[in-house]
Amino acid sequence: MLVVNWVIDVFYLESLWVMESVIALLKDELQEVENQFEKNLASDVQLVSQVGNYVLSSGGKRIRPMLLLLCARLCGYQGDKHIELAGVVEFIHTATLLHDDVVDSANLRRGNRSANSVWGNQASVLVGDFLFAKSFSVMVGSESLRILKILSDTTTQLAEGEILQLINTCDLEVDEPRYLQVVRDKTAILIAAACQVAGVLAGVDEKKELALREFGLEIGTAFQLMDDALDYVANEEDFGKEKGHDLFEGKMTLPLIHAYANSTEPECEEISRIIEAEELAKEDLNYICALIDKKGGILYTHTKASERIELAKQQLTCFPDCEARKALFTLADYVVSRNK
Ligand code: IPE
Ligand code: IPE
Ligand code: MG
Ligand code: MG
Repeated sequence: MLVVNWVIDVFYLESLWVMESVIALLKDELQEVENQFEKNLASDVQLVSQVGNYVLSSGGKRIRPMLLLLCARLCGYQGDKHIELAGVVEFIHTATLLHDDVVDSANLRRGNRSANSVWGNQASVLVGDFLFAKSFSVMVGSESLRILKILSDTTTQLAEGEILQLINTCDLEVDEPRYLQVVRDKTAILIAAACQVAGVLAGVDEKKELALREFGLEIGTAFQLMDDALDYVANEEDFGKEKGHDLFEGKMTLPLIHAYANSTEPECEEISRIIEAEELAKEDLNYICALIDKKGGILYTHTKASERIELAKQQLTCFPDCEARKALFTLADYVVSRNK
């Protein structure tokens, strides 16, 4: 395990270094996206701008806007609508996080107190609603019914994913396919939409548009797999979220699903007792972490995520080997080596 950690650390440092070049490549456009946030958060209701600014300026990685901007560049898009739409996907993402932290009773987000723990659940849900609503009014500005349809279907599916996850809570019968359905709906779909929308804006043919969507779906799936692995093994300070929180919430994620599927009967009974308990004792979290380690749950999840990244890259073979494609590959690699 030590060697695995060491390899992951080296890989992480290297990918972080190259990620800086992607951020530098998009610097001006990303700044324009940030300016959009400010404009779209303006409201006569002070609490809206207060909570909105708090959450939007708290250090999100901006993966979704970066993907949209890079895909637009890959497709040779010449207009300026990609900036607004990059802002839209980040607004949708932020709205889901505001709601998700209420649903998950999370206290920490991006290393700071989550909005719900500062302003309460009601304010978080309502500001989340504001962000969703604002996203739709900005989307209309794209003057593309097709983009409106993609993003509204995406928002519907996001909600379905979160509901499906709620239904799966504490259910030890959740297996890999059921888990992957939640991952697809709650996370991968939005990342896929970010990539696809860029293609639609640029007017690429159907084959390329589909390739972009599939690229996003694979990256998005890998992204959530890694998040679920990090929930067990991350350094809380880097991750910016509470460690072990998925277990605390009774979420069946891949590291645990894999461990459970490979456990003895007494181990399964112990997992069952822990997942159903009202409170998560420190020693129970330690037990599950040790069991996941023993059964290779993190390595398994990491391997599955890496496979997805390879599949993602294959999707882009129909595009020329250019700066934007290289940057998308770098971003893809970052997804499986990140620690936050
Ligand atoms: C967090 O997404 C929610 C997941 C889909 C795992 P990010 O990790 O992209 O969140 P920020 O915006 O960078 O904080
Ligand atoms: C992703 O799942 C949530 C959304 C897509 C809204 P998580 O619940 O794992 O995300 P984090 O860990 O709270 O960021
Ligand atoms: Mg959550
Ligand atoms: Mg998580």
